[in-house]
Amino acid sequence: MPPSSDLLSDVSEVLLTEEQIAAKVSELGRRISLDYAGRELTLVSVLKGSLPFMADLMRSIDLPLRIDLMEVSSYGGTSTESSGLVRILKDLSAPIQERDVLVVEDIIDTGLTLNYLLRYLRGKNPRSIAICTLLNKPARRLVEIPLDYVGFEIPDAFVVGYGLDYGEVYRNLRFVGVLRPEAYQS
Ligand code: IMP
Ligand code: MG
Repeated sequence: MPPSSDLLSDVSEVLLTEEQIAAKVSELGRRISLDYAGRELTLVSVLKGSLPFMADLMRSIDLPLRIDLMEVSSYGGTSTESSGLVRILKDLSAPIQERDVLVVEDIIDTGLTLNYLLRYLRGKNPRSIAICTLLNKPARRLVEIPLDYVGFEIPDAFVVGYGLDYGEVYRNLRFVGVLRPEAYQS
């Protein structure tokens, strides 16, 4: 079923189509499979935005792997700006000590959320830790973060779909689109 036309009418431009996303996810999966050949990966997905990406990416990786899920929320910011104050709503369910960890993110914007999360995860003594993000919005970066795998660099616009939300809505769109400012202003 296609999403209701209400959801679609709030999108001013399709930035990435379902087909472009699928091709990129396969490519990322191939690269990760080669880079980690002979090792056992732990994918740590950061809910909720990275849920569709995680589900597709894990099936594109040809390695024995485990998954774990974390959920964080930033607080003290606004609905379209993060503050860097991060609360852990759901923690890892298994230790990552001595494991090769790949953090799976939907989007890196200011970098504040991931910066916090990386410090937290490094404290758990993984063997290695790398980052895979579907989207990168470098224009607004406030902290330098080494990104190992990036799907797409996108311009400074608020985007929704393929997991990304505004006010918890739009996550189920199959594409990534730019949200009309009218949908979040006023
Ligand atoms: P950062 O801490 O500024 O890097 O923000 C990271 C989080 O903010 C992401 O995981 C998203 O949940 C949210 N975010 C940042 N930019 C967007 C966007 O354009 N659309 C939807 N969510 C966004
Ligand atoms: Mg997120």
